[in-house]
Amino acid sequence: MTSSASPRQLFVTTALPYANGKFHIGHIMEYIQADIWVRFQRMQGHTVHFVCADDAHGAPIMIAAEKAGKTPQAFVADIAAGRKPYLDGFHIAFDNWHSTDAPENHALAQQIYRDLKANGLISSKTIEQFYDPDKGMFLPDRFIKGECPNCHAKDQYGDNCEVCGAVYAPTELINPYSALSGATPVLKTSEHFFFKLSDPRCLDFLKAWTTSGAVQPEVLNKISEWLTPDPETGKTALGDWDISRDAPYFGIEIPDAPGKYFYVWLDAPVGYLASLKNYLDRIGIDYGAFMANPDVEQVHFIGKDIITFHTLFWPAMLHFSGRKVPDKINVHGFLTVNNGEKMSKSRGTGLDPLKYLGLGMNPEWLRYYLAAKLNARNEDIDFNPDDFMARVNSDLVGKYVNIASRSASFIHKFFDGKLSQSQTTIGETTSEGPILVVLGSEGQIRQDFEQREFAKAIREIMRLADEVNAYFDRQKPWELAKHPEARNALHEVCSNCIRAFQVLTVYLSPILPHVARQAYRSLFSLDRQPLWSDLRGLADAIGTYHHLMQRVDVKQLDALFEPPAAPEPEKRVPGGEDIAPVITIDDFAKIDLRIAKIVNCEPVEGSTKLLRLTLDVGEGKTRNVFSGIASAYKPEQLVGKLTVVVANLAPRKMKFGLSEGMVLAASHADEKTHPGIHVLEPWPGAQPGMRIH
Ligand code: 2FM
Ligand code: ZN
Repeated sequence: MTSSASPRQLFVTTALPYANGKFHIGHIMEYIQADIWVRFQRMQGHTVHFVCADDAHGAPIMIAAEKAGKTPQAFVADIAAGRKPYLDGFHIAFDNWHSTDAPENHALAQQIYRDLKANGLISSKTIEQFYDPDKGMFLPDRFIKGECPNCHAKDQYGDNCEVCGAVYAPTELINPYSALSGATPVLKTSEHFFFKLSDPRCLDFLKAWTTSGAVQPEVLNKISEWLTPDPETGKTALGDWDISRDAPYFGIEIPDAPGKYFYVWLDAPVGYLASLKNYLDRIGIDYGAFMANPDVEQVHFIGKDIITFHTLFWPAMLHFSGRKVPDKINVHGFLTVNNGEKMSKSRGTGLDPLKYLGLGMNPEWLRYYLAAKLNARNEDIDFNPDDFMARVNSDLVGKYVNIASRSASFIHKFFDGKLSQSQTTIGETTSEGPILVVLGSEGQIRQDFEQREFAKAIREIMRLADEVNAYFDRQKPWELAKHPEARNALHEVCSNCIRAFQVLTVYLSPILPHVARQAYRSLFSLDRQPLWSDLRGLADAIGTYHHLMQRVDVKQLDALFEPPAAPEPEKRVPGGEDIAPVITIDDFAKIDLRIAKIVNCEPVEGSTKLLRLTLDVGEGKTRNVFSGIASAYKPEQLVGKLTVVVANLAPRKMKFGLSEGMVLAASHADEKTHPGIHVLEPWPGAQPGMRIH
């Protein structure tokens, strides 16, 4: 049932995610799409190497690492360490996860550059760019801000205005400043290296490659803009590509160019090769020989935001460095949640994949739901919670799983787990037998998977499940079971349904690898993933049926989309002590607070804590007050200042003399952790003797 006699050799990747943040649902969607396709190919008996890596380099990551107080290497290593729970959690079976900062990538990127250079496709020229004099670095557009030259909105980015949408060069910003240091950037020149995409050889190659079937029609449409000459000037929009950045930069050094690094987008796709090489080295396959094999098919899954890099720059880099070019770039659209915000790289909100798993939601529900929406075009798809619940509960549980659960019990109860006759006989002799019906769609479903028309495949699979259930309902095995003379019919009906269920399990296996494996293990006593070739020899007996899938509970969806609880406001104890019990205004009126002038102040012999203050409270005489503020003030700091005194406090006899009042000062309850005493001082204009109300 495979289309070609000899197994295909496939090298499949998904886009390499920037190592500056966790996965969001958009990443997971891409990985699930690719994983389904890869699993489908493996089920056909083809060999697939399915790899990915972290995209580690570039200024944003370097800056984020600095902010986090880490080296860029440590920063990206921490991000990489968090990848596994997502990948395992959603059954995404990459063979390898690598990093663009790995040695293989340094070596490959440098070699590709050398090869391009030897081929006359690298040029250099001096360009002028904004430079942050405080940070000592050239500023990427995203790190220059200023006033929009068009609408005068403040704090706009260096490449476009988020308020009016204008697009401009950073040098056009009014009052530009560095988003890193706030400094005013200065223009500075530097030598940059370019990949000469404007070379006629590149244009010729790209015209041929892009029309060779490697890209979807709508993608070709889009990139043709770059390759079609302007009728007036005769020039195409494809200019030379600036591939170098100046130190400091987290990236790969350009050979023979001290202080120059590859722009991150130069070495990122090379990471596909580096990850493959790392993997092949590990499993003992020669990378060079593998990539030299003309039969190898190189397939990249990417989002529609990075089309130009993958359909123009990347194939040209490979071709003109004498390497194999991609056979297929599969571009998907974005995922929205509840018709909401775009799930782009930078703002992945809405459906947190780890929260989904943490709530005990089945990863295969999501795989199924996304597959039911995905097609071969780069259209956006929407995650709608009601639709999600309806599809999973009615399709997967209500239609597919239902076939096994309702048929298996009869086979066990009456036939000791044995199925009737062979499927072929059944198909030929039973006009209503659903086996031929389900097998009849095999070619169509296989083609749909191959072409990434997953939604179409699922529609057909569910139509088949409906047919099987309708057959079961028409045959009424629960009635047949009541009549011993109808045993054969009962056996045949339930066997038909079980075998049809096995066929559907094979079809669904790329999407539901875990459920398919469970069904194979428990029901068909086979401890392996289903293979497409199993369709040629269906089961003869069944083992115990274990329930295969729960329904989605609406509570889980509510919890999934519930905004994260606001953190409990921290109980603050002001100044280290609770506010004293409430008093009345009359209580307060009993305290007579007056402005006092400190006319003299001296240390107290025998005390390190106390200062002796002589206060004028406007009484025509002075008062003597001891105050425990020696740790905070030198006497001369206080002389001549105004402060506040409790004027009607009963005089207190102390070791050093009589204290006739108390000066007000602020301090924290815990002096050890919060040292400091702060004497109160009134605003200017207050006079000694004035009462404080
Ligand atoms: O857009 C992105 O997230 C990039 N990190 C994708 C790189 S894909 C490949 F070129 F590495
Ligand atoms: Zn503007």
